[in-house]
Amino acid sequence: MNNHDQHKKLFIGFNWKMNPGIIKQAQDLFQIYNDLNITPGFLPVVFTPNIYLHSIQKINFSDIDIGSQDISDKESGAYTGQISGQMLRDAGCNYCLINHSESNKAYNLKPKSIRNKLIQGIRNNIIPILCISFYKQETAKVDLESQLQNIFNLEVLNLVKLQNRIIYIALEPILNIGSGKALDCSDIDQYLEVITNFMTSLELVKQKNYLTLYGGSVNASNIIEIGKCKLVDGFLLGGASIDPQQVTKIFNLLK
Ligand code: PGA
Repeated sequence: MNNHDQHKKLFIGFNWKMNPGIIKQAQDLFQIYNDLNITPGFLPVVFTPNIYLHSIQKINFSDIDIGSQDISDKESGAYTGQISGQMLRDAGCNYCLINHSESNKAYNLKPKSIRNKLIQGIRNNIIPILCISFYKQETAKVDLESQLQNIFNLEVLNLVKLQNRIIYIALEPILNIGSGKALDCSDIDQYLEVITNFMTSLELVKQKNYLTLYGGSVNASNIIEIGKCKLVDGFLLGGASIDPQQVTKIFNLLK
């Protein structure tokens, strides 16, 4: 898919996190996605646990893309337990999450590692969804900006610009994740504006090499409202993505 297609479509990422527990349940869950009618204006991506990637690809008969929830910051070698960009590409992943707050908490990711994950994604033709999060609203703007400053160096910028690649940046307020309560539009827009201003300062805005997402308790009751926020190019859903009723409702709403 080229950048033009990305810009025309509203992204919806379904992050299954570490669910469901067995392959049969994963296949049954994916079957629900398979059976849905996907309107051309949307770009749905299901982020399955890596161990399910191959078997979900085999039963994927829809226009849904498959992504991974993480990517190694290394190319190959003696890195026990890690999955490389090349492996993910070979497993049919077009997208990967990077620096989700839950991965960051588990692995204590440093900016250099996050940056190298971005580089591995881009080099392997996988579109990165870079998650940027914050705890407290009082310090959110400063926290968001300093994370972006630490991650984006010349090497990443050159890769994105020279190859005219897209990066999604997902705003992920940690206290809203899994809480059932999303941020309201004015807050979402004011924080996404920090991201937009930063990306503009890097001159990525000229070709609009980035798109902005919101994640944190998006569900069937609020997705339409959140979709109206000025700076939202799409969503990242966790809990709702493993609930068949929510998934069906969301696709019906987005018709
Ligand atoms: P949630 O998760 O929808 O369950 O809040 C969102 C996320 O982790 O991105």
